[in-house]
Amino acid sequence: MLLICIASLLICSAAASDFSVFSSNASVSERLGSSAVLPCGLSPSLNAELFKVRWHKDDYNSPVLLYDDLKIQENAGDPLYRGRVSLIGDLQKGNLSLKLENLTLADGGEYVCLVKSLTWYESVKVNLTIKELGSSPLFLMAEDGNQVNVTCRSNGWSPKPTLTWRDKGGRELTTSHIYYKTDSKGLVSVSSWLLLSPSESEWISCSVGLSDQEMKEGRVLPRKEIWREAFIATLVLSLFIVIILTALLLLVRKGLFPPRPSHKNTKEEETLPLTGPSEERLMMWRKLRKNKVKLTVDPETCKKPLTMKQDGASVYRGQLSKSDLFQSSSFPPALSKEGFSSGQTYWEVTVDQKENSKKSWCVGVTQKPPTEETLTALCYEEHCGIYPSTDPHTQIPAEGHVTTLGLILDFKHKTLSFINVDKESHLQTFRMNNMENSKYFALISPGMKDSYPVKFS
Ligand SMILES: *[C@@H]1O[C@H](CO)[C@@H](O)[C@H](O)[C@H]1NC(C)=O
Ligand SMILES: *[C@@H]1O[C@H](CO)[C@@H](O)[C@H](O)[C@H]1NC(C)=O
Ligand SMILES: *[C@@H]1O[C@H](CO)[C@@H](O)[C@H](O)[C@H]1NC(C)=O
Ligand SMILES: *[C@@H]1O[C@H](CO)[C@@H](O)[C@H](O)[C@H]1NC(C)=O
Ligand SMILES: *[C@@H]1O[C@H](CO)[C@@H](O)[C@H](O)[C@H]1NC(C)=O
Repeated sequence: MLLICIASLLICSAAASDFSVFSSNASVSERLGSSAVLPCGLSPSLNAELFKVRWHKDDYNSPVLLYDDLKIQENAGDPLYRGRVSLIGDLQKGNLSLKLENLTLADGGEYVCLVKSLTWYESVKVNLTIKELGSSPLFLMAEDGNQVNVTCRSNGWSPKPTLTWRDKGGRELTTSHIYYKTDSKGLVSVSSWLLLSPSESEWISCSVGLSDQEMKEGRVLPRKEIWREAFIATLVLSLFIVIILTALLLLVRKGLFPPRPSHKNTKEEETLPLTGPSEERLMMWRKLRKNKVKLTVDPETCKKPLTMKQDGASVYRGQLSKSDLFQSSSFPPALSKEGFSSGQTYWEVTVDQKENSKKSWCVGVTQKPPTEETLTALCYEEHCGIYPSTDPHTQIPAEGHVTTLGLILDFKHKTLSFINVDKESHLQTFRMNNMENSKYFALISPGMKDSYPVKFS
């Protein structure tokens, strides 16, 4: 009888020192740069102050955090986590949850919470996923016989996003052509293409996202490129002119028309030369920058969510309301008061005042009111780099970070040139069609990604 009693007492005391370790959330996911709490607790909720707690990832010997001898062992932990980790819960109540701050992509993975008493140990695993939303989808269109090859691309995601094409009616369009690429930082880009019949009204959408709430969508009309028809028309016209000129020349040779004394067009000489290579644009810029025009923002064009600064030259993205978040344009534009319809004009735009703080911007020219057809601009998005508004897939190489852009609008040569003012280098020159008899205005957009201003400087 006594023996049984002693035996049961032993069992009881042994059982009292046992505990199980649990996590209330085995898959935590948080945004890059934010903080995460990885839950871990004891059941029953014993006082864990005298226990040993080891949070580790792949390497047991290099723990994320080690609690032993009543305190956190600062020097035992992996240096990558030093200063960023803490036990956030109440140890006396058996709460061993880990707080991890300033999350990096490398922090993603499986964590183990291991708790040891003198007589017992147990562990639980918690997965941490680092989320990052990528860029809005960018489109590229190319003609493919009677069809249009539409490509959709988005960069800068974590983890791997899904990409879905839908027609105007919301029906899913299936494609087997979805490609993923992981960059050196570990962010994923996705691209996909579809062959479609051209259409002027049936837009399609491409959405890229991690979930229904964390998603970016873009829409596009699968149009045939207009330039091709324009090009053929120009070619036919050019041939026609060549024939006429040849005929006239022959007539002159035969002496039917007396040759006119040739005279130079002095007006033509006033404009600077332009033969093509970027060195020429730089020479032109060095001359024109002395006559820089200081532009001001036309308040009428600066609409919500944009806000104008007192200086009359800066615009920034103001407070966002819910409806702004669903607005489709990622680059709401503001235009200059000043408009141009002849000559050569030079102005500057500061797109980033603090190094690397601006996540997106768009700078260029357009007519009033702004339309897609008359817009010519360079845009920037974090993860995508600088690209022409007309062809979001061509990244324009820039020497380092661009903070001030110089723009030359040239009606003589029908071009718009962009100069990287800090590096004194040529970025891009656009040929402008149909410039005659039209008035162009400078366009600036601070983008939607942050609230830093862009400024006519
Ligand atoms: C786990 O944590 C994530 C946030 O990291 C949260 O969205 C999710 O709802 C949590 N799940 C449970 C079961 O609490
Ligand atoms: C997190 O990052 C911010 C800004 O980079 C810094 O001020 C802060 O000290 C960091 N916190 C920790 C715990 O490292
Ligand atoms: C542990 O503590 C954290 C932070 O105070 C709290 O959010 C969490 O709910 C606690 N967990 C348990 C199991 O009590
Ligand atoms: C964590 O993720 C890995 C890989 O996705 C999976 O094999 C494992 O079961 C997950 N662990 C938990 C605790 O959910
Ligand atoms: C469509 O365009 C993509 C590039 O954007 C290309 O890789 C693909 O081969 C094209 N498809 C066809 C059928 O031409």
